[in-house]
Amino acid sequence: MSKSFKTFLKHTAKDFHNQSVNPPVVRASTIIFKSMQDIRKTQAKAQKNPIGGHYDYGRQGTSTTHILQKILTKLEESYHVFTTPTGFGAVFLAIFSVTRPGDEIIVADPVYSPTRLFTEKFLKEFDIKTIFYNPRDLKTLEKNISKRTKLIFVENPGSNTFDFQDLGKILSIAKKNKILTAIDNTWGTPYFLKPIKLGFDMSIVSATKYYSGHSDVMGGSLAVSKRVFQKVYNAERITGLRLGPDDAYLITRGLRTLDVRLDRHRENAKKVAAFLSKNKQFKLLYPYKKNSENFRMWKKYYSGASGLMGLKIKSKNINSVRKFVNSLNLFGYGYSWGGFESLVLHQEFRETGNRKYLDLAKDEHLVRFHIGLEDPNDLIADIKQALRHLK
Ligand SMILES: Cc1ncc(COP(=O)(O)O)c(C=O)c1O
Repeated sequence: MSKSFKTFLKHTAKDFHNQSVNPPVVRASTIIFKSMQDIRKTQAKAQKNPIGGHYDYGRQGTSTTHILQKILTKLEESYHVFTTPTGFGAVFLAIFSVTRPGDEIIVADPVYSPTRLFTEKFLKEFDIKTIFYNPRDLKTLEKNISKRTKLIFVENPGSNTFDFQDLGKILSIAKKNKILTAIDNTWGTPYFLKPIKLGFDMSIVSATKYYSGHSDVMGGSLAVSKRVFQKVYNAERITGLRLGPDDAYLITRGLRTLDVRLDRHRENAKKVAAFLSKNKQFKLLYPYKKNSENFRMWKKYYSGASGLMGLKIKSKNINSVRKFVNSLNLFGYGYSWGGFESLVLHQEFRETGNRKYLDLAKDEHLVRFHIGLEDPNDLIADIKQALRHLK
């Protein structure tokens, strides 16, 4: 195997049996065997090596999902990667695997709002208490640890506000208190940050975003350390949360160019960020300004930055913000991100959710940009023309 992951992505999973550069889509509910003895042999192998791709029923996977899991395990440098039908499925699987009634979990305040809703409201009904910590003040994390704390759930950077946290410090707090850790690493992907190597027990990526890269498939991945593998394996079996082979194929196809696309997203985002940072009405929520704490925290852990950024706009006229956003021609209006195209969203309460530590004044408004793979000069020109509406 070549040393560079970029080369590995281009050469892995060739199918010499079918003489195809890409592996086939193997769809199966029944996995067929030649005899009962063969079934038993496979089951014995699966018991000995649960991550070896020895399946006796389609819900466990087929060779198509196994190939994707093997590629992601290499990319994550983890013990194993579970794949789920959506990114949110991976969030659910991570938390469901390690928490039980009576437990407490501590969650970063700016998590993706469905994650917040799940932990704060839904888990409460199962007697699991959630406490949110301020990503800019880790004392709010440390002081809320109790004997019941089972899990620290981080999202880095935080959704909408893009706060970068001191991941090493969070991990050392967790270690000292013998608490498990999970991180939503969708923004950076393991191409820019490898959480399991850093010391996290679980790392989530919405494969819907950069892994697939073409806005046409949904999926999720949950990378795990050896320490939590068995718990997640048991939970995955019980919930039946598994990615289908057609989606696994598309995500594997997307992964071939993950590095190329992310490198370009990063370059384009840097150019757009340079333009946006000059405007006095804006506070750029992206690791761009070298003397900021956010930049320092990003630089400490990440090898690159993706294409998703926020903008805090100061304006007493919310309609002019709406007009600015609505006047963009090259930015699509819609949820999700990580595809080849640029997108924009005006982030209101629906997106940010009921946060405890949202640092937003009445005359400040959040806009989220996903910087795609277009010519960045065109994107900048488009933002420039829309700016005439902003007051
Ligand atoms: C940070 C983050 N995590 C998880 C998810 C959920 O992923 P999916 O849409 O694939 O369920 C999203 C979706 O937008 C996200 O932004």
